[in-house]
Amino acid sequence: MNQPPTRSDSPQLHSTETQRNLRDSQDKLEVQIHDRTAELLAANARLAAEITERQQIEIELRKSDERYRVLVETLPDVIYEFDAVTGNITFLNLEFERVTGWSRSEWIGKPFMNLLHPDDLPRAQAAFLKNCRGKTPGRNEFRILCKPGHYATGEFTSIPQIHNGKVVGELGIARDITERKQMEEHLLRNQRLESIGSLAGGIAHDLNNILGPIIMSASMLGEDLPKQTSQELVVIIREAAQRGADIVNQVLTFARGAKGEHEILQPCLLIDQVKRFLQEALPKTVAFKVSLSEGLWNIAGNMTQLHQVLVNLCVNARDAMPEGGDLSLSAKNFVVCEQFAAKVPEAKAGRYVRINITDTGTGIPREILQKIFDPFFTTKAQGKGTGLGLSTVLGIVKSHGGFVTIDSKIRKGSKFSVYFPATAESQAPSVFRTQAPTPRGKGELILVVDDEISICKMAKTILTKTGYKILTAAHGKEALELLKQHGSAIKAVLTDLAMPVMDGVALTRALKATHPSLPIIASTGLAAELRYKELRCLNVQSFLSKPYSAQQLLAVVHHALSGTPKRAR
Ligand SMILES: Nc1ncnc2c1ncn2[C@@H]1O[C@H](COP(=O)(O)OP(=O)(O)O)[C@@H](O)[C@H]1O
Ligand SMILES: [Mg+2]
Repeated sequence: MNQPPTRSDSPQLHSTETQRNLRDSQDKLEVQIHDRTAELLAANARLAAEITERQQIEIELRKSDERYRVLVETLPDVIYEFDAVTGNITFLNLEFERVTGWSRSEWIGKPFMNLLHPDDLPRAQAAFLKNCRGKTPGRNEFRILCKPGHYATGEFTSIPQIHNGKVVGELGIARDITERKQMEEHLLRNQRLESIGSLAGGIAHDLNNILGPIIMSASMLGEDLPKQTSQELVVIIREAAQRGADIVNQVLTFARGAKGEHEILQPCLLIDQVKRFLQEALPKTVAFKVSLSEGLWNIAGNMTQLHQVLVNLCVNARDAMPEGGDLSLSAKNFVVCEQFAAKVPEAKAGRYVRINITDTGTGIPREILQKIFDPFFTTKAQGKGTGLGLSTVLGIVKSHGGFVTIDSKIRKGSKFSVYFPATAESQAPSVFRTQAPTPRGKGELILVVDDEISICKMAKTILTKTGYKILTAAHGKEALELLKQHGSAIKAVLTDLAMPVMDGVALTRALKATHPSLPIIASTGLAAELRYKELRCLNVQSFLSKPYSAQQLLAVVHHALSGTPKRAR
């Protein structure tokens, strides 16, 4: 019986086995390759999926970036970013260019604060510091410099940028509210004109009372009178004319009004102005009394607007007393405690100055008390009331951080109390009224520039009599000609602002370049035209409001020459 061959038995058998082994390993290898390939393919597929996913994410990110970029660039608000350490701007959107007229490249890398109005800087810095402490300041209004030189008003909302617990920058949005502000100013002004209209009868009556003695005295002066009598008449004329000038000044200031800027005010000055304005304008059947407490705290506010609040309330009081009665205006310091604040909406605990306007009129029925602050709500006959007085009062008081309370009894009268937050800051130097003895000139040559011949003549007469030498010009161009001829002999220039050919501002601008150290006094009949800060930048140190007295003119010229600038009106 044949035995099956073993590997070593025959070479043929041996090779067959080798072949089988080879096939086996080949099979195994194939399986391994197959598995590996499958693995690789799977890994590849995973990778491809991952790459697609990542690409997708990148595409999404890019899309989202693009979306935000487009949004930021088309947003009708300015978006800015600045570095907390350097204070330099790191980003601005396109709207910045539209609002300000600057191109972004002109400001990127420059200090953000340089864009703001110098008067707004303390508030802006305080808001930024608050940001640095990681707190988001609420909304703030700042003025922002535009390329043509004017300022736009922006409502700023800023967010601190925090990295690793540290504030690294500030990101903010500023909405251009210039038009809204102008509109508000316009509305306020219209309302002021309305109240002047309602007081016009009283003002006209008073002006007539002033003109009466002037006309009478002047006609008597033509006659041959003893010196003593004529001197007395001159005093009457001067005092009456001064009173008339004061009234015109007050009506003009009130009607035109300053911009909505706030300054530090002494309430007694405000109430004194209102008193002088109303004393003339209220009917004689209304007994008007003013009482002020000692040491009233200062408030931060806009003089014209606060004036408007008090005048509106007094006009309402007058209307509530058609048969006459008592109207009193009083002011005192008032500390609002937590309990009081909890009872009165808008009131917060703290120091306030409270101004009461009390009448003995009709009183306000309970059912209309809720409505009286609504715009256009009036109980007055057509043509008598517009219903805007109290809504304006409320708007102004709120914008000053204050509040209003009312106490009223039918047929007994009403008391309106307005509260304005006191400020710790002390007052800016007030406008000065000179009473000092008249200083004399020492032959200094003064150039008087005014298109009004009578003003030039008067100034010339007064200044020549007091020891000065005078040159006069009718406009800026003529003044520059005279300066060319007389050069450094001219020691000071007194210029009107509104003039033909070349006005006072253009003249001062020219003088700043050619005669930088020449003292300039700016004078105008419209106080609102006196843009103190702008003119001060043009080397104008002294201001004189028309009409001015001889004493005021001499004082301001003396101060300008001695280098101690003042304002006089
Ligand atoms: N001191 C007051 N005494 C009585 N009623 C008043 C007084 N102040 C305001 N009112 C009432 O509030 C209303 C609204 O006042 P206001 O807004 O100033 O508009 P107007 O004076 O044009 O009517 C008045 O019509 C009047 O009914
Ligand atoms: Mg009114």
